Amino acid sequence: MKKHYDVIIVGGGVIGSSIAFHLSKRNYRVLVVEKGALAQKASRAAAGMLGAQNEIGEDSPLLSFARKSRAMFPALAEELQFLSNINIELIQSGIIKVAQSEEEVAHLRAIAAFQEKIGEKVEWLTTKQVKEKEPELSEAVQGGLYMPNDGQVSAPLLSKALAQSAAALGTDFLEYTEVQELIQDNNRISGVRTGTDSFFASNVIVAGGAWSKDIINKTGISLETYPVKGECFSVQTHERMITSSIFSSGGYIVPKSGGRLIIGATEKPHTFDESVQLDGLYQLMAQALNIIPALKNAKWEKAWAGIRPQTGDGLPYLGEHPHVKGLFVATGHYRNGILLAPVTGLLMADMIDGKAVHHPFSINRTPYIKEVNR
Ligand code: FAD
Ligand code: GLY
Repeated sequence: MKKHYDVIIVGGGVIGSSIAFHLSKRNYRVLVVEKGALAQKASRAAAGMLGAQNEIGEDSPLLSFARKSRAMFPALAEELQFLSNINIELIQSGIIKVAQSEEEVAHLRAIAAFQEKIGEKVEWLTTKQVKEKEPELSEAVQGGLYMPNDGQVSAPLLSKALAQSAAALGTDFLEYTEVQELIQDNNRISGVRTGTDSFFASNVIVAGGAWSKDIINKTGISLETYPVKGECFSVQTHERMITSSIFSSGGYIVPKSGGRLIIGATEKPHTFDESVQLDGLYQLMAQALNIIPALKNAKWEKAWAGIRPQTGDGLPYLGEHPHVKGLFVATGHYRNGILLAPVTGLLMADMIDGKAVHHPFSINRTPYIKEVNR
């Protein structure tokens, strides 16, 4: 393994791998160092929804970023298929955000009005129209917002395809190796130290998901990030029960290939514990059965949990460290790291290129960053 690179990326989840992919396309010599195996952790746990409208919905700086990323998927899917021979299972059959009360109807209708105004495709479906579109949905559903452009992919396959495509383009990956320290020289980054080795580069990007803070905290600032655990399970059905993903305030049901359904997800803040607990599964099952009663006959497959990286103001941190030249951070994608991976890779590659990029995700924003003693 070489010792000198142009860019070292800490973390081989979907974000680190997407950045590596974009940098390799621009001929940078890239090393990704991953504490465990590639494409695991949150990136493997995700349901894979590309919910630009569903998850962000109302006016937020994230919305245009997310719309841009969502639009990148069709071409990306082809490129990844070509480079890695992996089909990321992009399905563009929309998400229906269902209402289960009068308040939710009013809220979703207001979101529909806003989205129409900004030119997004969105359709309010009455209870009858929802039933016509998805006949397995129960009477608990009182209409829904259909967002045909919000698709989905297989999150584990996307993460793997990005890593393998980056490798095909020349990125080196070092698995089962933790970055323990960042090497600095006069407030300039010069590399990383693992337990046994040092690797050198004039740019280092920390894309360690919910664990990014551990490394960044040693550099004189503290990012306001925290972990949010999400639990999910999957079942197998004989027939295809739904065509679109169904999203409700109590959870979602995402149809995958071959009659498989992913049902998620809980939100448990401030824990790094990746175990699956019965209270979470119980809630998700009750809500799923309330929305699709025929699920009672579905065959159990498995359950899992992942840790989402959340930030104080809900926006990711994407940018250069305020005091250490060449040190960058790309984390805080919370519920939307799969959706935002393509545009994040592009943006970070532009920053490494030295392009003047303007966006609201700088790590310098206050009050979400604190100075700490090094
Ligand atoms: P991770 O995937 O956690 O990767 C970070 C990596 O960094 C890890 O592999 C870790 O081992 C490594 N690392 C950390 N520290 C070090 C170190 N010091 N040295 C070396 N390596 C290190 N998003 C969507 O867009 N759509 C969805 O439908 C969706 N559903 C979700 C459902 C669940 C249940 C969960 C939990 C998340 C979901 N998300 C979804 C969110 C998405 O999964 C995350 O935003 C995304 O995976 C974050 O990617 P990441 O690469 O930043 O983090
Ligand atoms: N975006 C779905 C989740 O984070 O659970």
